[in-house]
Amino acid sequence: QTLGRVTLVTVVGGKLVSAGTFWYITYKDRNPGPQLPFDPSKKTLVILGSGWGATSLLKGLDTTDYNTIVISPKNFFLFTPLLPSVAVGTLGAKSILQPTRYVARHKARQVSVIEAEATNVDPVNKTVTFADTSPLRPLEPTRTIPYDYLVYAVGAETQTFGIPGVKERACFMKEIGDAEQMQARFLDCIETAAFPGTSEEEKRRLLHMVVVGGGPTGIEMAGELHDFLEEDLKSWYPELHPYVRITLVEALPSVLPSFSKELIAYTERTFKESKIDILTGTMVKGVSESSVRLKPKDSEEHDLACGLVVWAAGNKARDISRNLMAQLSEHQKNRRGILVDDHLRMLGAPSIFAVGDCTATSYAPTAQVASQQGAYLARLFKLIAKRDELARKLEELSNANDGKDVETQKIQEAESLAKQIEKIKLKPFHYSHQGSLAYIGSDKAIAELPIFGREWTSGGVATFLFWRSAYISTLFSLRNRALVAGDWMRTKFFGRDEQRCN
Ligand code: FAD
Ligand code: NAI
Repeated sequence: QTLGRVTLVTVVGGKLVSAGTFWYITYKDRNPGPQLPFDPSKKTLVILGSGWGATSLLKGLDTTDYNTIVISPKNFFLFTPLLPSVAVGTLGAKSILQPTRYVARHKARQVSVIEAEATNVDPVNKTVTFADTSPLRPLEPTRTIPYDYLVYAVGAETQTFGIPGVKERACFMKEIGDAEQMQARFLDCIETAAFPGTSEEEKRRLLHMVVVGGGPTGIEMAGELHDFLEEDLKSWYPELHPYVRITLVEALPSVLPSFSKELIAYTERTFKESKIDILTGTMVKGVSESSVRLKPKDSEEHDLACGLVVWAAGNKARDISRNLMAQLSEHQKNRRGILVDDHLRMLGAPSIFAVGDCTATSYAPTAQVASQQGAYLARLFKLIAKRDELARKLEELSNANDGKDVETQKIQEAESLAKQIEKIKLKPFHYSHQGSLAYIGSDKAIAELPIFGREWTSGGVATFLFWRSAYISTLFSLRNRALVAGDWMRTKFFGRDEQRCN
């Protein structure tokens, strides 16, 4: 029936494919075959998280080698690079989410996906405790399960430095709920400013958007806000446009410290043309209902009136990570995150592997690093499974020999197994930097790409097109690619979503 409906020739990933192939791909996608059940003879691999590190591992993992359990409070993977686009309605929230069960359902052996928050890891007894956080809690909301190997990929949370009012009044930009919350607050500001009788001063305050943090998240957020205000608000609320203002506040002397001087200057110039004010060398000391408290390096503290505050001031370790590190305090002494060895094994707990933002390594906390680490672990676990299987056979052999006369053949077999185990060399993790990209608004992006051993930098509209094509090809599924491409076309032709559903 489905085949009958597909009559057009289709282009997928730049290749021309026939309707039959397209039908086959979609059919297989929607109807994956039966999966192998859990096998009691296999080891249990527990994965905490469903973000970049965990999903990349799950995608590459040969699940026939393990009984795999994924535990995460979110039953989806979030494509974070496009999150600021969701906050202003360029993209729909669902377009950048990929259900974890979808990935799990396409594996050879079944994978158990549990929507729950891990609350404790016991590295000595090798157990994980997790809790159901939904409002419909089961009778026993907390469970503890054992693991043979644990992959710890819980990411990090937004750093607030304990600054008053941040948690209560600022919008974060880390989770899909943050983007939705920011959009709601943003639309509140606009509609309240449009309310008849609102004073000039109040309009100016409500339509002043402050972004805190000049790292890539803050820069991208300011750029996206600018696009919405210029491309949509200007035509839908023309009377409000003169009151609109965006300010980016950064404590350091410059924005984007990880990018080259050239690209920093280009971003600053673009922001100036876009009328986005940048306040560098200025620390935000507090957030109230109607303003932010600023402390510039060389002058007195003062308040800056605003309607919306987006907080993009970096990351800190989650409580569960801090608890885990405290249990291994002899080996884990870095407050930034978990220390791992060259094979991503947690120092002090060799059965735990940690990846991504929850670790403290020499790499930046990026999706690129986390996904390469996840892919590396998938390869590593293949070798570990092979090694464990040989070790099991060797142990069986030596148990069978216990107390009996050992035949030459068995000795030879044991020697051969030992040699095979020795041959399995676990290579250390090696990070390969593919470059950095950031969207800066006005259909412009900046890029720093390593080409033939040299750093190549570029900024502008062509880089923006490259940024879009790079991210659309990095999206994890055909479904996400189709949804994101559709949203971009919708925005181009009909404008951004600015209606609220509640
Ligand atoms: P995450 O992807 O954050 O995943 C953590 C997972 O753990 C989540 O599924 C979470 O639900 C789960 N979890 C949390 N607590 C628990 C718990 N107690 N128990 C079990 N599971 C738990 N990087 C780039 O390289 N390029 C970019 O363009 C880019 N853009 C970004 C844009 C934004 C707005 C943001 C916020 C980040 C961006 N990053 C980018 C950084 C990138 O998103 C992170 O480095 C990456 O997500 C880290 O992957 P991770 O797997 O360590 O953590
Ligand atoms: P970040 O840590 O890179 O930047 C936060 C900024 O906030 C810092 O520059 C800091 O000085 C500033 N800050 C902190 N407290 C402040 C205060 N009270 N007042 C004023 N400024 C304050 O955090 P970000 O941007 O969230 O990035 C986190 C990680 O994610 C980074 O590794 C980044 O590279 C990555 N990322 C990459 C992107 C890309 O490649 N396009 C996009 C977004 C994030």
